[in-house]
Amino acid sequence: MMKRNLVLGALLLLAVSAFAQKFEKLAQTPPMGWNSWNTFGTRISEELVKKTADQMVASGMRDAGYVYLVLDDGWMMRKRDSITGDLVADPVKFPSGMKAVADYVHSKGLKFGLYNCGGTMTCAKYPGSHGYEAQDARLYASWGIDYLKYDWCYSEGFDAKESYTKMSQALKDAGHPIIFSLCEWGTTKPWTWAKDVGHLWRTTGDIGNVFDGIKQYDTWHSLGVMRIVDLHADLYPYAGPGFWNDPDMMEVGNGQTETEDRTHFSVWCMMASPLIAGNDLTKMSDTTIRILTNKDAIAINQDKLGRQGFRYSNKDSLQAWFKPLADGDWAVCFVNRSNRSQTVRFDWKKEKVIYSVNQQALNAGKQAYKLFDVWEKKARGTTAQPFIHKLAPHESVMMRMRK
Ligand code: GLA
Repeated sequence: MMKRNLVLGALLLLAVSAFAQKFEKLAQTPPMGWNSWNTFGTRISEELVKKTADQMVASGMRDAGYVYLVLDDGWMMRKRDSITGDLVADPVKFPSGMKAVADYVHSKGLKFGLYNCGGTMTCAKYPGSHGYEAQDARLYASWGIDYLKYDWCYSEGFDAKESYTKMSQALKDAGHPIIFSLCEWGTTKPWTWAKDVGHLWRTTGDIGNVFDGIKQYDTWHSLGVMRIVDLHADLYPYAGPGFWNDPDMMEVGNGQTETEDRTHFSVWCMMASPLIAGNDLTKMSDTTIRILTNKDAIAINQDKLGRQGFRYSNKDSLQAWFKPLADGDWAVCFVNRSNRSQTVRFDWKKEKVIYSVNQQALNAGKQAYKLFDVWEKKARGTTAQPFIHKLAPHESVMMRMRK
């Protein structure tokens, strides 16, 4: 009997360690930070990191929660070190070396992230980690890297689950707590298998700097904000504290209108999406700062219940989104996706809003919630009366519903 129990115990231990390789207790709310890709592509440098870190502090972004500064593709030399096989940070872009850059970021009260890929090369053709997982993970740990975005280019013939699990395990073995951000663009539905492998996973192809539609390049296209939302909206049952659906870095501050940027940010907040800014922080306007640091909007995104909001209705390009919050409040957001003005008419007594994951019902018809507009910072009545509100093209209204 004793022996059988021991065997069972050992098997159980094996099973637990096989399924729980990622660092626990990280990303209990959606990660917030900045990533270099959307604005700078591979034109990154030590100077850019320092200026961005300084600006994250000076603009109030760090204190609003944006703590991860992540360098995307382009930080490496084209070849590994011929003797050690280690990745080498480009000495022209990073003359002080990556450890010194990480130290600088840490000295500002921020955390530092890097990028690589589970294929043989990254998407911009720098050396990938395939076959070097343990070695690369040890290198990142020695530099104090806190966040790894892990892409999926040049991975023909590889199994995504296997590759990401291998890197996850390597990071765990290297011993430095690190957020593992999967970027296989939703191709193998990582929301169905990656909960114990990583802390967030991209659900779609790359975002493009347009509100709707697609952006066509020679051989590929990126997706406008609303197109990403379409692909992402139904995945709300698959997110929670420690594991998030990632609809990509934001385009806020990259040239869309203030109305569009607010809507983009609002929907990312409703969807409990990682809030990773993708604009040039050294040149942002006060309007962009105000959008990115809106604390009432961020509170909805960072709510500790960790529910991803869902799209309750979507008729004539007028959408209603709901998100249950930890203290019995809810968040609601009405979005006008269309190019014409439209009026929202929402009668709380007639609508039956239910969060299907746990069948939680919003009884706003029976109980009057107070509506607080998180952008205009003002009360908008209660749910005792129907909500009637005109929205300009691409405009939205996001409100906290207070009990
Ligand atoms: C892929 C990713 C992007 C970015 C680039 C870098 O396209 O999806 O987010 O990391 O690679 O080359």
